[in-house]
Parts: sequence; structure tokens; C-alpha cells
Amino acid sequence: MPDIAVVGPWAKEKLEALERYLDFYAKVLKNQRWRTIYVDAFAGGGRALVRANSAQEDESIPLFEPEPASDVDRTELIDGSPRVALNVANPFSRYVFVENDPARCEELEAVKVEFDGTRQIDILRTSAADGISWVTARQISKATHRGIAFLDPFGANLEWASVEKLAATGIFEVVVNFALSMAIQRMLPNSGEIPAAWAKTLDAYFGSRAWFEEVYRERSGGLFNTPGFEKREEYADRLLQLYRARLKAAFGHVSTPRLIRNSKGAPLYYLLWAGPHTKGLQGADHILSMGESLSKKRGAAVAA
Ligand SMILES: C[S@@+](CC[C@H](N)C(=O)[O-])C[C@H]1O[C@@H](n2cnc3c(N)ncnc32)[C@H](O)[C@@H]1O
Repeated sequence: MPDIAVVGPWAKEKLEALERYLDFYAKVLKNQRWRTIYVDAFAGGGRALVRANSAQEDESIPLFEPEPASDVDRTELIDGSPRVALNVANPFSRYVFVENDPARCEELEAVKVEFDGTRQIDILRTSAADGISWVTARQISKATHRGIAFLDPFGANLEWASVEKLAATGIFEVVVNFALSMAIQRMLPNSGEIPAAWAKTLDAYFGSRAWFEEVYRERSGGLFNTPGFEKREEYADRLLQLYRARLKAAFGHVSTPRLIRNSKGAPLYYLLWAGPHTKGLQGADHILSMGESLSKKRGAAVAA
């Protein structure tokens, strides 16, 4: 078996929400004249193994991590986002899978062979940023196309410039994994002294330095009155609202966030939808709020 990605159980919740939204989208557009395009900018290999051993359910574990087979109590093979999208009842006219890991690209080539003749698939062995540039610059026309891009990075390696390119087409909706607890919070030390490389990544992710103000304020008073910064208590929510506001400004509409937690109830990341149409917003809000009520129940069970 190829080196299939290993994911936490929470990945199923993410993929289920994606599936529901793609289904909704495809039904709405079914009898319309558009050619539809699905772009998976951080595609993965098309399948994943769900990790069952809860001992590893730590928020510091990335979504997809290369664990040796012997270390993992694997119970279930699930379809990753490319297969979820390929299997929607009313398929898209075209699929573009972007992936920069050579082994994952090989897995995607096998998916392409499997769906040969029934789906039009392009596999781009490149970065999400280059893949999105290619799609938005040359592969679509506002007169003929409508599309969805799934933006599911490892952490904070999604560039705001790419999100903006998708928004500027006027035809794309996006479903974004906003990796607040899994990645972004870990790049924000209490002192405000952020390594230059992390600050650069966060600037690229948020599209400006505005994130800093949302997280830190100047320290006031204190025993030694030392100058410097301290973290705001509500900084996580402020970052989420900053990103949502940016999505709304770029696309026109942004959904309520859906928080994905691990099985112990710890927050991991948010799923957000943004797009140019109110109909999409209604569908996304409905689907994403289903998840929130589920996670509230699970949170209550954890607290009990
Ligand atoms: C979280 S996983 C994707 C999971 C997949 N969307 C799913 O739900 O089945 C992120 C994937 O993005 C790939 N990746 C990481 N950085 C990338 C980049 N800058 N451009 C393209 N792919 C990238 C990784 O190799 C990995 O397969």
C-alpha cells in the first residue's frame, strides 16, 4: 500500500461538511448553463487513514503527518477531498488538483486513471499559489464558468494573495480551513517577539501586518514597568474576525465559522465559506451550523 496520509478522526467532520456543501452547490447549478470547476489547492493524495488511538489527539499534531505504519492504530480508510468532490452526484465539469508532494501526486495520478473517461481532471504538481494563478489567469471565463476552491493547507501556508485572486474572478466560492489552533496560535509567543520568518508567513497569510494589532497590545504599568507587548485575552476571536472580515470584503459574503475540535473537545481549526452569492451563503450557513450543533453536543459530552 502507498504511504497514505494518516489523519485524526476530526478530518471526517471536515470532509462531511465539504461533501454536503459540494452536493448543495452542484444541485443548485445543475440545470444552469455554467461549466463548473472544482479546484483543490492542497489536494492530498485522495485517501487517508483515520487514526484511532486517542493518545495522539493533541492539537500540536498536524492534520496529515507521515507516521510509520507500525505506530498507528488504523481503523478506517476514508476518501480525501479529491475523491469526495469526484463522487458528488452531479459532478463538476472539470477538476483541478494542486499538490506539491511527489508521492501524493502519484496517488492522484492513480485517481485520475480510475476516473478516466468520466471526469476531466488536471493534476498540477506545484504550489497552491502557482496552481491558483494558473487557473485564475488562463482556465476560466466569467461568461462561462462557475467554481469552488477548497483551501485546506497545513497550517498557515495559504497566501492571502491567492485567496484574492480567486475572489477577483467573481466566479469562485471558497471553503477555507482557517487553522487557528493547529498552526497560527503556535506562531504567536506571549512576548510578541516573533521570529522574522513566522511574521513573514503571517503577513502573507493575512495579507498585511493587521494581525499583530489584533493579538498584541502595549504592556501598561506592571511592577517594573517594562516596555513591550502582551497578548490580548480575546486575541483568537479577534484573528478569526479579522480573517472573516477580509473574506467578506473580497468575496461579498462570508459564512458563520464552523469550529472543528478533536475528540477531547479541544479546538483545532475553523471551516469558513466565502462567495459572491447570497444563495451560497444560505447553503453554507445551514451546512456549517449543523456541525456547530454537533460539536456543541460533543463539547457537552466532554465536559460532563
Ligand atoms: C491538510 S492536507 C490536505 C488534505 C485534503 N484536502 C483532504 O481533505 O483530503 C494538505 C496537503 O497540502 C499539501 N501541501 C502543503 N503545502 C502545499 C503547498 N504550498 N502547495 C500545494 N500543496 C501543498 C501537502 O502535501 C498535503 O497533501
